[in-house]
Amino acid sequence: MKVLVTGGAGYIGSHVVLELLDQGFDVSVLDDLSMGARENVDERAEFFLGSILNPEDNAKALEGVDAVIHMAAFKAAGESVENPEKYEKNNVGGTLTLLGSMLDHGIHRFVFSSSAAVYGDPQYLPVDEKHPVVPINPYGQTKLDIEGKLENSYSDRGIRFASLRYFNAAGYDILGRVRIPEAAPNNLLPIVMEAANGTRASLDVFGNDYETRDGTGVRDYIHVTDLAKAHILAVERLEKSSSFTINLGSEKGYSVQEVLDTARTVTGMPILANITGRRPGDPPKLVASSQKAKELLGWSTKHSDLESLISSMWEIYKPAEATF
Ligand code: UD1
Repeated sequence: MKVLVTGGAGYIGSHVVLELLDQGFDVSVLDDLSMGARENVDERAEFFLGSILNPEDNAKALEGVDAVIHMAAFKAAGESVENPEKYEKNNVGGTLTLLGSMLDHGIHRFVFSSSAAVYGDPQYLPVDEKHPVVPINPYGQTKLDIEGKLENSYSDRGIRFASLRYFNAAGYDILGRVRIPEAAPNNLLPIVMEAANGTRASLDVFGNDYETRDGTGVRDYIHVTDLAKAHILAVERLEKSSSFTINLGSEKGYSVQEVLDTARTVTGMPILANITGRRPGDPPKLVASSQKAKELLGWSTKHSDLESLISSMWEIYKPAEATF
């Protein structure tokens, strides 16, 4: 069976490609390399340089494909507030172009990278799939818009989809096969790694006066390989079942302070952190219920404890050992 991964050179995409290849799938990758790194695409995959916005690029990459895992998207919530058009054009417009190309090629299985950002501020915890969807930034809105179009117009046209709502993806391939870290990261764990290896002098902790156990924000970090495994299970399930939408999180909440403490232990580095004000739009706590994913897919997490997450990242971020 052959799967196309759009955005397969990106942080999550390159891990999904590895997991598919390891499990014996044939894999094509379509990526415009605006964010991803060519070196992170395993050489067993066939690589197409191109954009989902271009039907000709889609046509080439879709040749002989049975299912599509669509991960090509911009994901910086802050940037989406400043430049919503970029998100509308690429995330929504690009997805619709890709879906049109899939229909032209008679391909009907679609796994979509959605996000916990569709929920907005949590109204209760843990957040399950029945939680109201009220995104608080254009990025989350683009994910919700696509989910809506999949439910309505594309289901009618025969597309069977799995919408996977990721919580906070982190970690790197345990075998160290994804070597190039994300450029200019926005998320906490890569920023902590950059403060540990000296790429940046320090990091800011956005608030320590939340109603959480130590005052800092709590999130549900999920190892990217655990996340990747869920994509394979989703593709397989779509072969015989109808569309579904699931959360993918570890159901554990770790605070910024706990992340820092563990990172200092694992790396042996001081990691300088300054407490600053809260970041607008940040909820105090966001933790998933992933019961539905467990029941539907038989999915479970293996690497999503904080120490495994951070050790797998440090293998990539740690400075090269001096040679004498
Ligand atoms: C981010 C995205 C969100 C997306 C989610 C999962 C933003 C603003 N939000 O969520 O849309 O759905 O990833 O992909 O990009 N923190 C610091 N200092 C930093 C960076 C972060 O203290 O320099 C704190 C935050 O306040 C938060 C936690 O660390 O409490 C995690 O932040 P982050 O990694 O940015 O993820 P989210 O904001 O949860």
